[in-house]
Amino acid sequence: MFNDTERDTAVVILAAGQGTRMKSRMAKVLHRAGGKPLVRQAIDTAMEIAPPERIFVVVGYQVDRVRAEVEAAGARAIHQIEQLGTGHAVMCGEAELTGLGGRLIVFVGDCPLVRAATLTELAEMQRSSGSAATVITTEVEDPTGYGRIIRDAVGGVESIVEQAAATPEQLAVREINSGIFCFDSAALWKHIHEIRPDNPAGEYYLTDMVSILKQAGRHVSALKVADASELLGINNRIELAAADRILRGRKLRELMLDGVTIEQPETVTVDANVRVGMDSVIGPFAQITGDTVIGENCRIGASSIIDNSVLGEGVEVLPFSVVTSSKLDARAQVGPYSRLRPGAHLEEGAHVGNFVELKNTRLGAGSKSMHLAYLGDSTIGKKVNIGAGTITCNYDGSKKYPTVIGDGVFVGSNSTLIAPVEIEESAYIGAGSVINHKVPAKALALGRSRQVNKEGWRGRK
Ligand code: UD1
Ligand code: CA
Repeated sequence: MFNDTERDTAVVILAAGQGTRMKSRMAKVLHRAGGKPLVRQAIDTAMEIAPPERIFVVVGYQVDRVRAEVEAAGARAIHQIEQLGTGHAVMCGEAELTGLGGRLIVFVGDCPLVRAATLTELAEMQRSSGSAATVITTEVEDPTGYGRIIRDAVGGVESIVEQAAATPEQLAVREINSGIFCFDSAALWKHIHEIRPDNPAGEYYLTDMVSILKQAGRHVSALKVADASELLGINNRIELAAADRILRGRKLRELMLDGVTIEQPETVTVDANVRVGMDSVIGPFAQITGDTVIGENCRIGASSIIDNSVLGEGVEVLPFSVVTSSKLDARAQVGPYSRLRPGAHLEEGAHVGNFVELKNTRLGAGSKSMHLAYLGDSTIGKKVNIGAGTITCNYDGSKKYPTVIGDGVFVGSNSTLIAPVEIEESAYIGAGSVINHKVPAKALALGRSRQVNKEGWRGRK
């Protein structure tokens, strides 16, 4: 699965900082772009180029939450108790990382757009160059905030100068440091303690390793990439939105190349883990999120939201529906304006129409609830017709109770089913009934007062 270079490469992702420029109570690396926390995005990219046991993440700010994210992704956390800079963050991994030998990629955790292929190219270049380190760089229109790449006479890197310490001449340099390095591990660990916090911020800058290695007589190379957008670092919410847009664009292109039609893709949101089958069509402003899986030949109507759900083939979700943690079997139909809350399960060919809400309810194959209903905690058989306005009263103010409806039942419009209650197969409920006793199979149940007509009443009054 991994080639020789990859087996000999370890990755450390720096994710311990607070991210003050986000102006947030939440650590920067937990903010999401493309439907994933930034740190998760970095780990998933790293997983493509190195074995999981060689992927480490330096955590510090909001350590418990970030560590949980790291471990859920299958990587290992290293604790940086005080955040004293990117160089210090790497030093914190010395005990775990020195023994690994080979190369070490240092990857800033706020750079979610980097492609795995670029990291592979970095590792290959570092391996074949014999340099002590290789840094990914690019040229940008506006380099404000990034470290500037100062070149040496032979096209290598002389030093990296941070914004705050740069001279006016250096500030004009448009080639920037991505924050992503590949070090020869031996050279890194030999010299890392030479980093001094002698800068306006008083931090240990990893970028100082370049001049340190140069002074030790070693060469530092640059891998300059053409697509600057890949190296966008996220420091504030404007950059977060830009990264989100790019990641989502990539996901939609992937889906389209795999045979999914997306109408007005610039309006559609699809999370990274979502899978969609061939010949499915996604309408404008749809949002498909979480671990949703959609089969072939489905149609997701405009402005529908589908989260963590599983849709079989040929499912149709008409516009403005919200489907959460639900299961829709083949050829089920939903909407417009339906709401499927967690635990809804539509079996094959079942239909749910406008203003129908389901929660923790199974609607059997071919059954229909087309208008204005609430079905909660219910088990409904096959070929059942639920009339307009039917309500399952599943809650008595303190507890929830189940409703069971057998195959072939007809529930007349505006029925009130007071749970716990059972309606046996092929029973028939008259419209407007209030049902709180079991209805036997094939019976007609009428739970309403008889109509009274008073002849000539209007004339007498
Ligand atoms: C850094 C680089 C800069 C580069 C830019 C690219 C340094 C000194 N500067 O600047 O040259 O152009 O990235 O985006 O390296 N972190 C820790 N522990 C710390 C400090 C930071 O883990 O003590 C982590 C942060 O969580 C973040 C990453 O390192 O994920 C980068 O830190 P940040 O403060 O954003 O660095 P920049 O100022 O953007
Ligand atoms: Ca940054």
